[in-house]
Amino acid sequence: MQRQNRTFSLSILSGKGGVGKTNIALNLAYALYQAGQNTLLVDCDLGLANLDVMLGIAPEGSLHDILNHNAKVEDILFNLGKNGLDLIPAASGVTDILDLDEDQQDNVVQRLTKVMSKYNFLLLDLGAGINQTVQSFAAMTHHQVVVITPEPTSLTDGYALIKVLYTQKKAKNFHILVNMVHSEQEGRLGFERIRAACEKFLELEVDFLGFVRQDDVVPESVRMQKPFFQTAANSNPARDVLNIAHRLIRIRNDSLERIVSTPALRLEDLDGID
Ligand SMILES: Nc1ncnc2c1ncn2[C@@H]1O[C@H](COP(=O)(O)OP(=O)(O)O)[C@@H](O)[C@H]1O
Ligand SMILES: [Mg+2]
Repeated sequence: MQRQNRTFSLSILSGKGGVGKTNIALNLAYALYQAGQNTLLVDCDLGLANLDVMLGIAPEGSLHDILNHNAKVEDILFNLGKNGLDLIPAASGVTDILDLDEDQQDNVVQRLTKVMSKYNFLLLDLGAGINQTVQSFAAMTHHQVVVITPEPTSLTDGYALIKVLYTQKKAKNFHILVNMVHSEQEGRLGFERIRAACEKFLELEVDFLGFVRQDDVVPESVRMQKPFFQTAANSNPARDVLNIAHRLIRIRNDSLERIVSTPALRLEDLDGID
C-alpha cells in the first residue's frame, strides 16, 4: 500500500512578474519553520532562478542535477535551518521538466516525493506568467497561492492566470495574497476585486490568504542577501508573513484528510501537454 502523505504542497504564482513571489516564498518558508513546520522550498523559476542570490549562497547542486543527471535529491538539499528548513536551488536557463519524456518525469517526481515525507510544507517558487512549465508545476501541487499587488494590471494578470489554471488544469484551490499594500483595507480591496471576477466569470470561489505591507526592509534585505524575516523580525512585512504562515498551518490541518490521500506532487496533469 502507498505510504500516507503528510506534505502540503503549494505553488507560489503570479500573472505579472516583480510582484514579490520570490521574497514571499523565501520568508514564508522561514516563518513556517519558526512556527515549527518542517519546510522544503524549491526554486522552480528555471528562467530567473534567484533564491540562491537572495540568500547569498552558492550551492553546488541544483534542480538541474535532479532533472538531468539523476542526482540523489538528498545530496542536492541545501540546509537553511537545522532539521527542517531546506532549499532545492534552480540553475538558470536549463532543461525544463517538460523537455523530459513521461518516464523521466515520473522518475523525477518519484525521487522528489521520496524525500518529502520529512516535511509538512513544500513551497514551489515559480516564474511569472502562464507558460507550460508554470502550468505543469502549479497543477502538481495541492493548492495554489496567487500573489498580486493592488495595481490594476497585476489584478487582471492574476485573474487571467487563475482562469487558465482552472479551465485548462482543473486547479481550484486558489489562495490570494496581496503584496505591497499600504493598509489591510487596500489588501482586502485587491482581494475583493479578483474574488468578484472569479465568482462572476468562472463561478469559482477563491480564498483570501492575507496581505503583506510595502516596506523598505524588503529591498534592503534583498541587498543584504538575507530574509527580512530574520533581519527585520518586527517589521510589518515580517508580521504579515507570520500571519500568513499561521493561516496556512490552519488550512493544512483542516485539509489533512485529503492531503494524506494525495501525493505531495501529482503528475497526471502533465500528460497530454502539447
Ligand atoms: N512588500 C514589499 N515591500 C517593498 N518591496 C517589495 C515588497 N515585496 C517585494 N518587493 C520588491 O519587489 C521586487 C520584486 O520582488 P521579487 O520577490 O523578486 O518578485 P517576483 O519573484 O514576483 O519577480 C524586489 O525588488 C523586492 O525588493
Ligand atoms: Mg521570482
